[in-house]
Amino acid sequence: MAEYETIRVERAGARATVIVNRPDKLNALNAGTIGELDAAFRELAADDDVRGLVVTGEGEKAFVAGADIAELAKMGPIDGIDVSRRGQDAFRRLERMGKPVVAAVNGYALGGGMELALACHLRVASEKARFGLPEVKLGIIPGYGGTVRLPRIVGRGRALELILTGEMIDAGRALDMGLVNRVVTPEETRPAAEALLDTILKNGPVALRFALEAVDRSLETGIDEGLGLESHLFGLLASTEDMREGMGAFLEKREARFQGK
Ligand code: COA
Repeated sequence: MAEYETIRVERAGARATVIVNRPDKLNALNAGTIGELDAAFRELAADDDVRGLVVTGEGEKAFVAGADIAELAKMGPIDGIDVSRRGQDAFRRLERMGKPVVAAVNGYALGGGMELALACHLRVASEKARFGLPEVKLGIIPGYGGTVRLPRIVGRGRALELILTGEMIDAGRALDMGLVNRVVTPEETRPAAEALLDTILKNGPVALRFALEAVDRSLETGIDEGLGLESHLFGLLASTEDMREGMGAFLEKREARFQGK
């Protein structure tokens, strides 16, 4: 793994945990951090030993409190486009790497931090977590995919409420609106996210990749395109060793040992 300054990557078996590590700035994302996240996602995507990721923030207070406002304050319009595109590209790489990603939201997830959590496939939140898209309070809009992903996850009305008011919501409200999958104590946040990922990683890796692709592509296209892709991926899985192993293990009443082939 490359050496990073503002993030850390920890590995345990098939799982990698990516930790945004600027706790004195509440893990705010500056250009360097976005670049390091992008490089780490690229590296982890290419590493066949890594089957899934947890993303979290260092310290007890924040997951990520947004893009770095001190940096944003200096931008002009063309930089603005570039800043937005670089963040979007990094988060899209995470979302489309074909490996399940669980956010462990340990505190404030604001602006770009909330958008990072939205780019993860599942979200486990501390009961102390706070979510919000406060960009309009700064005279901007979410620029790392928030306007695109939030309405897909919680619906247009609830997304617009958060985007237009800029107000924060607590973990309970986030759970009620389906923004997070579960809420746990602060100490349990990272372990619970890792345990959820480990449960997922017991399953066939190729099946997980195709399931992510089927769900995301059908949401991006339509019912008939989605159904067409689903049946093709379903058929393609019949050519994998993983399918033979999974069904063989069931019939022989033993645990499956998937190879991802
Ligand atoms: N960008 C840059 N620095 C940030 C930051 C951000 N998004 N969020 C927090 N920080 C910095 C603060 O400037 C402060 O730095 P300092 O100690 O050098 O002054 C440090 O992190 C601690 O934050 P502080 O504001 O003192 O903590 P708090 O407990 O009083 O408030 C928040 C916590 C999250 C409510 C507050 O930091 C906040 O509103 N942050 C900005 C959130 C935001 O608008 N994000 C969207 C950006 S697009």
